[in-house]
Parts: sequence; C-alpha cells; structure tokens
Amino acid sequence: MSYIFWSDDYLVGEKELDDQHKSLFVLMNDLVKLFESEEAHKEFFNKLNQLVKYAEKHFVCEEKYMEKIQYPQKKAHQRKHELLVRRIFDLNNKNVKTNYETLDLIKFLRDWLCVHIKQEDMMYRDYNAMKTREMVK
Ligand SMILES: [Fe+2]
Repeated sequence: MSYIFWSDDYLVGEKELDDQHKSLFVLMNDLVKLFESEEAHKEFFNKLNQLVKYAEKHFVCEEKYMEKIQYPQKKAHQRKHELLVRRIFDLNNKNVKTNYETLDLIKFLRDWLCVHIKQEDMMYRDYNAMKTREMVK
C-alpha cells in the first residue's frame, strides 16, 4: 500500500495545526509500514490507537481555532470529525480481524486524512485569509 507524502499544499497557515497534520501523516505512514510487516500485529493496533487518540486531540485544537476565527461552518466541520471518530469506533467494535478489513480501515483513514485537509480544512484557511484581507482594507 502506498505511503502519503506531505506537501505545502496541505498547509492551513496555523503553525500548531500544520504541525499536527504533519504528525498525522507520520503516524499514518507508520501504520502502513506496520501493516506490511506481518509480525507486528500488536504494534499495529497500538499505533492505530495512538493515531486515533492523536487525531481526537487535533480535532479539539482545530475546533478551538475555528471558534477563535469565528468560522461560520464550524458546526458542519465538527460533525465530520465526529463521524470519523464514530466510524473508527464502530470498526473497532466489530473487531477488525482479517487483513482485508484492516486494509480497508487503513485505506479509509489515509484517504480521509488527505481529502479532509485538502477540502474541509482549506475552507477555514480561505475563510481566515479572506477575513484578514477585509481587516487590512
Ligand atoms: Fe478538520
């Protein structure tokens, strides 16, 4: 399975959030690597747990930031975070056991991370940039 690569296209312009997004990329790639090494089953689930906990912490920071910049789509964005957490929780409850299910879960997380930053997170970046421009005028 392919790794994901960070590029400046993912920058939202808030250092704390950008650093957290970069860390999520690192954790995600660690997870892919562990998945590919067959002996690391337990480590894989520890890493998955670490990734989910980190993502939850990151969502809290991101939501605080959206509050701070008075982002009007905050509720909808927050809902997307909640849906992701719930989906992972459901998958965990189902006890992801087979390689096929695990592969599906990783693919889902990996794609979600990239698409979410590029589409949803960029919306608050653009909103904040627009707001800043208005204030300068
Ligand atoms: Fe987000």
